[in-house]
Amino acid sequence: MKPCNKMSILLALIVAGFMVNSLALAAAPPNKIATGKHDLSFNGASILATSPGAGAGVLGDQTCIYCHTPHNAGSNKLLWNKAGNGNTAFRLYTSSTTLSPSAKASLKAGLSANSPSLFCLSCHDGKTAINVLHAGGQGAAAPGGYPANSNFAFGNTPISLPNTWTFGDPVAGLGGASGDDLSNDHPIGFSYTQAQLEKPTSLRSTTDVANYNTESQYIKFYGSTSTLECSSCHNPHADNSTSQDYKPFLVMMNTGSALCLSCHNK
Ligand code: HEC
Ligand code: HEC
Ligand code: HEC
Ligand code: HEC
Repeated sequence: MKPCNKMSILLALIVAGFMVNSLALAAAPPNKIATGKHDLSFNGASILATSPGAGAGVLGDQTCIYCHTPHNAGSNKLLWNKAGNGNTAFRLYTSSTTLSPSAKASLKAGLSANSPSLFCLSCHDGKTAINVLHAGGQGAAAPGGYPANSNFAFGNTPISLPNTWTFGDPVAGLGGASGDDLSNDHPIGFSYTQAQLEKPTSLRSTTDVANYNTESQYIKFYGSTSTLECSSCHNPHADNSTSQDYKPFLVMMNTGSALCLSCHNK
């Protein structure tokens, strides 16, 4: 074989290898918190900046601090920085007669104490204050009964979803007036694999979920029983500001309901 042929075979292999790699790495959804709806900092386009008393927090211009802290975290998971949930028990979607038996039983039992969905619900229940943090360096008692030295509110006034502010479109809390009612929201906190075993034709296997399209691989299941949680469908860090494609904080685009169809074989 002539050297130049060897060279072109080598080049072809490199190109082929590169194509396989770029296919596997394709379409990683963009992350960008700053200036999006999860940027609660005072310097961003913050909802807190329009709330009474905003600007009082010396660390309030940080983006991550509303959810994570590098030290003295309130939880040993995710270095979580919320002061805790106002709600610990939630009523989940159980009304349907067509749910798989395992999902229905698990939904009736409610969310387990280690459900990752509780991170989201520590703001999105509509009751827990979004700006009351576990640690942040101030140590002052916050109005609303939050104790000194650990929990305090940026902006001094604890505010929760829903509330009245002038920033953007208000996103209502999901939990209704009581803050604990998720009975009209997509079911969460149950084993996907167990439900799928009981409904093998209408739900895709986790392997088939990941292969539905190039982005479906970003759908996540949690723990040893592959539970379905808020962040199975949502990425709280997704670029929600400039790219409309991942609104509202989705793990993948939902064009043509691709997100739904990744799990539901319809
Ligand atoms: C609105 C709340 C929120 C904000 C703000 C936020 N995060 Fe997160 N972060 C989360 C949640 C919820 C998870 C868990 C997501 C999951 O289960 O996949 C997470 C996970 C993480 C993880 C571990 C998993 C991973 O994706 O690597 C890191 C690291 C992280 N966040 C860093 C940051 C940094 C750095 C910032 C600021 C620039 C930030 N986060 C801002 C909510 C937030
Ligand atoms: C620190 C409080 C906090 C946490 C924790 C939090 N969020 Fe949010 N989220 C907000 C606020 C504030 C808004 C904007 C409300 C508004 O503009 O009216 C928002 C908006 C949203 C929106 C709507 C975005 C849009 O474009 O309209 C979604 C979806 C969302 N959050 C999902 C989640 C999920 C899922 C989690 C957990 C992985 C989470 N959030 C954790 C505070 C939080
Ligand atoms: C099965 C996928 C899925 C799960 C699980 C899920 N969401 Fe969503 N969520 C979506 C989709 C898709 C949208 C956008 C709906 C639209 O644009 O019509 C959305 C919209 C939202 C919105 C904005 C609209 C509104 O009603 O205010 C918020 C906030 C939100 N989700 C939070 C959450 C939280 C918190 C959880 C967990 C308790 C959760 N989601 C679980 C798929 C999901
Ligand atoms: C991560 C996988 C996943 C995604 C993504 C997903 N779902 Fe589901 N969904 C499920 C599972 C699992 C169940 C429970 C099925 C069961 O137990 O019968 C469910 C339940 C439902 C139900 C209730 C069925 C009943 O019997 O009452 C509806 C309706 C539904 N999903 C619609 C949607 C829509 C619309 C979307 C897109 C916005 C979506 N789902 C996205 C996994 C998913």
